[in-house]
Amino acid sequence: MKFSVKPTDPKSLKADVVVIFTTEDSFLEDVMILGSQMAKVVKKAAEYECFFAKQKESLFLSTEGKIAAYKLLIAGAGKKDSLDLLKIRRIVAKNLNKAKEANPKTVAFRFPSSWYKIFGSTKLTRSAVEAVNLSSYGFEKYKGKKKERKSKPREVIINTSAGKIKSAEQGVNLGELTSQATILARNLVNEPAEETSPEHLAQIALSIEKKSKKKVKVKIFEEKDIVKLGMNAYLGVSKGSAKPPKFIRLEYKPKVVGRKIVLVGKGITFDTGGLSLKSSKGMELMKMDMAGSAAVLSVFSVLYKLSVEHHVVGLIAACENMPSSKALKPGDILKSANGKTIEVLNTDAEGRLTLADVLSYASSYEKPEIIIDMATLTGACMVALGIEIAGLWSNDKKLISKIEESAKATGEKVWHMPLEKDYEKLIESDIADVRNVEKGRYGGAITAALFLGHFVEDKISWAHLDIAGPAFYQKDAVLIPKGASGFGARLLLQFLLDL
Ligand code: BES
Ligand code: ZN
Ligand code: ZN
Repeated sequence: MKFSVKPTDPKSLKADVVVIFTTEDSFLEDVMILGSQMAKVVKKAAEYECFFAKQKESLFLSTEGKIAAYKLLIAGAGKKDSLDLLKIRRIVAKNLNKAKEANPKTVAFRFPSSWYKIFGSTKLTRSAVEAVNLSSYGFEKYKGKKKERKSKPREVIINTSAGKIKSAEQGVNLGELTSQATILARNLVNEPAEETSPEHLAQIALSIEKKSKKKVKVKIFEEKDIVKLGMNAYLGVSKGSAKPPKFIRLEYKPKVVGRKIVLVGKGITFDTGGLSLKSSKGMELMKMDMAGSAAVLSVFSVLYKLSVEHHVVGLIAACENMPSSKALKPGDILKSANGKTIEVLNTDAEGRLTLADVLSYASSYEKPEIIIDMATLTGACMVALGIEIAGLWSNDKKLISKIEESAKATGEKVWHMPLEKDYEKLIESDIADVRNVEKGRYGGAITAALFLGHFVEDKISWAHLDIAGPAFYQKDAVLIPKGASGFGARLLLQFLLDL
């Protein structure tokens, strides 16, 4: 879909459908922009159909030549004061779907000037572009008969006043990049695990390096290198699989360097549970266990096109968690890269083992100011927060606020959870430094985060995001069709842009 920004008078806009977004507070005023003749028709229809511009209400009208467009869609957004960018994204997506009923080649959006004042032109436009792209996504490459869909318009016009053209165009550019990143993440996660192997993730990283003309530098550590780095916890997880592990490092270092940030993504390309085997049901969706790494790769796929001024390193310990005669066994003790020993009592708590070594590596070799890890880490986090919200743990209050702000701006929700010291006793081991599962049944997402904390140097600001819930949707949502959500790509990009 092509996006363009046009300052044309809405009355003479050449589009098949013009969508006028409006609120309960501003409806009468907002339709005046269409000229008094058209506005009269709209008001009459509104009375007839009891339309008050509440959220989810819309009014679809023929223009009968009163304005240049073929059809007019008045899109209600409820009360102005209760609006936020996530609501706006949802309203845009819903009304685009509605507009598709007229089989349009071009659709134009017009937002009230008050929305520009509240959200800023760049953010508003960017959100609209994301809404269009993300709600129109489908993963259908393996389907013979494609799902019947209303045809997509070829062009979406953002109709705004002349003074806002530049900022709106910036918004279009940003929105296209952030949606592109999210769609890459969705595709990687939706793809079956036989395709998205550790080797495949490494190839994706190398293709990013090539496309970026080496603005992103990539290094792949092979098994022998991983052995040299002493990443035995990671190797322990990988050793049951016939596929070799790939430790992937991506680096973006602009000329003007601000701060150094390491992004870590859990990259288990399939999680059977290992010898602590999952049930068939529990395993069904475990191709998604690399969603964290998909988000990190996606960030690097567009990072160099944005004006991020920080030194960013991405780290992914990709491997499979399989049972076999060579697999890690419950009761085994692994010596991690920072020297701490881990008693493995459940081989299904594998993500934290791979992450332990990556966090140790990041602490001792990268020495960044900030580490953020993203991982589909625990079912417990889904129990706690449901499927729309990621758990957020951090040792730094400022970092928490920053991530919360990025979450707000992108609509990718997070909730701050405690690194509760009193629960440390739950992961104390009798015979090693730490155990990989908690004693008892409760607080599993917190103890997983505490476990990770053992491998991060104290002076580094660190945040852990458990994305087990929001990484994959089992039902259609407005902006996220059933399947991978691409969660995290936009959140991390926003974080880097605002830092
Ligand atoms: N990959 C899973 C967590 C997961 C579950 C992600 C459901 C997405 C959806 C993780 O490796 C795992 O198996 N965790 C165990 C930990 C337990 C053994 C302590 C869990 O959550 O059951
Ligand atoms: Zn597992
Ligand atoms: Zn896992």
